[in-house]
Amino acid sequence: MECSVKSGILTKMRTACLVLGVYAGKKLSVAALLVDEASDHFITLALKKGDLDGKLGQTLLLYQVPGLPAERVLLVGLGKESEFNEKTYLEVITQSTLAVKALGAQDAISTLAEALFEGRDTYWRIRLGVMATHDALYQFDGFRSKKEVPAKMLRRIVFTITNRRELSIAEKAVQEAAAIAQGMTFTKNLANTPPNICTPTFLAEQAEKLCKKSEALSIAVLEEAQIKALGMGAFMAVAQGSSTPPKFITIEYRGAKKDAKPYVFIGKGITFDTGGYSLKDKVNIVGQKYDMSGAATVLGVLQAVNQLALPLNVVGVIPTCENMINGQATRPEDIITTLLGTTVEILNTDAEGRLILCDALTYSERFSPEVVIDIATLTGACIIALGRHATGLFTNHAPLGEALYKAGLETHDRAWPMPLWEEYHSQLRSTFADMSNTGGPEAGSITAASFLSQFAKKFHWAHLDIAGTATKASEKAATGRPVPLLVQYLLNVLAPSKKSK
Ligand code: BES
Ligand code: ZN
Ligand code: ZN
Repeated sequence: MECSVKSGILTKMRTACLVLGVYAGKKLSVAALLVDEASDHFITLALKKGDLDGKLGQTLLLYQVPGLPAERVLLVGLGKESEFNEKTYLEVITQSTLAVKALGAQDAISTLAEALFEGRDTYWRIRLGVMATHDALYQFDGFRSKKEVPAKMLRRIVFTITNRRELSIAEKAVQEAAAIAQGMTFTKNLANTPPNICTPTFLAEQAEKLCKKSEALSIAVLEEAQIKALGMGAFMAVAQGSSTPPKFITIEYRGAKKDAKPYVFIGKGITFDTGGYSLKDKVNIVGQKYDMSGAATVLGVLQAVNQLALPLNVVGVIPTCENMINGQATRPEDIITTLLGTTVEILNTDAEGRLILCDALTYSERFSPEVVIDIATLTGACIIALGRHATGLFTNHAPLGEALYKAGLETHDRAWPMPLWEEYHSQLRSTFADMSNTGGPEAGSITAASFLSQFAKKFHWAHLDIAGTATKASEKAATGRPVPLLVQYLLNVLAPSKKSK
């Protein structure tokens, strides 16, 4: 499916479906008003019959609207005009996309991005509109024996804008949105793939495939023997309980001069988290195939960065293994030595994410990074703290935190700042080693971040806890977050003067 933008006379546009908004109380949007006037008030008459009053997300299909080349008109409720905002805008885009898809129309023209609301310009409405459209159409049915293939597929959605002079900025918005949407699809597909297929080896193969697409991308995969030889004792403590071998993947994207410091993204790649000997129960173990969502995010970001050909150097680092149980598996009370040299008493084998990430953080020093951002489904406590709406944002460098926070607002892929005060660190004290890997039930997402911070002292670092945002609770399906936030962060690095809205 492709999205594009266009400006022109609505009543002359040929399409299988013209989408028009109607506010609550049957108040026509500007576009609907134009069509109404050109069609002898066909829309007003239809609304008088009472089938749609403009409630948010309502839809009504009209055929044979006089004076229009469009085959059908889809009216969509926008809710109260005074309450129309970013959130309702995105909801309306999603609902109308699903309605158009259900029709079996092959193309549509949507006027919904014309609807104005406080604080967001045409660029934003098109960019987020296109992203939400792709998101609504996403399907993952590769594992059904019978595929649902509709007779007619939706091929194209054209968004109209009223001001012709904004066409080039709107086209830029479409192009950026398409790259981000493709990155998100890549992330969602990987995350949704079942854990018997999506193993560390599979992740490495997918990463290799991605790198074959472009000269700018190169990859190195460290095998178990090399991981051990390097001294990644924390990573190995998690990996050793599985008969599936671990991989340590690094991908380098070269878009800038060789000596330009790279933006390093580290993704937690636990392809299944049983908890190890601190075993998860039968309820909480379901959903743990998504414990590689951080890794999938890193690959999605690289895919988008490559497609946008960003003039930056970016490195993706993915420690990936399973957290399983066998005769070699780590016991609670084992003490291991990390790549940094710190010793860790493993009191809970389910707190494995920080163990694989701490070695990846230490490894990242070798890239002389501009910043290091790790992305991880790290703690259930983060879901308790922030729910599904916000990613937990931790940092040792305030300007980096602000930049990520801002990028989250801009893409409606929001992250919320959490404290990393030294006081929390005392919860990680161990009687026998330098540190314990758990800080007890209080402030679980903060003590996890505090653990990581010990390995991030040599660079500007941020940690994104995506336990709540990587999946939708309702369908247990991947969201593709926080690909939009991270790509926006990089776009903003390149255009620091761009106003935040
Ligand atoms: N992968 C989990 C975190 C998680 C839980 C992600 C639920 C998504 C949904 C992580 O490895 C984990 O088990 N963390 C423990 C940490 C605790 C033992 C200190 C947790 O959150 O309970
Ligand atoms: Zn765990
Ligand atoms: Zn985990």
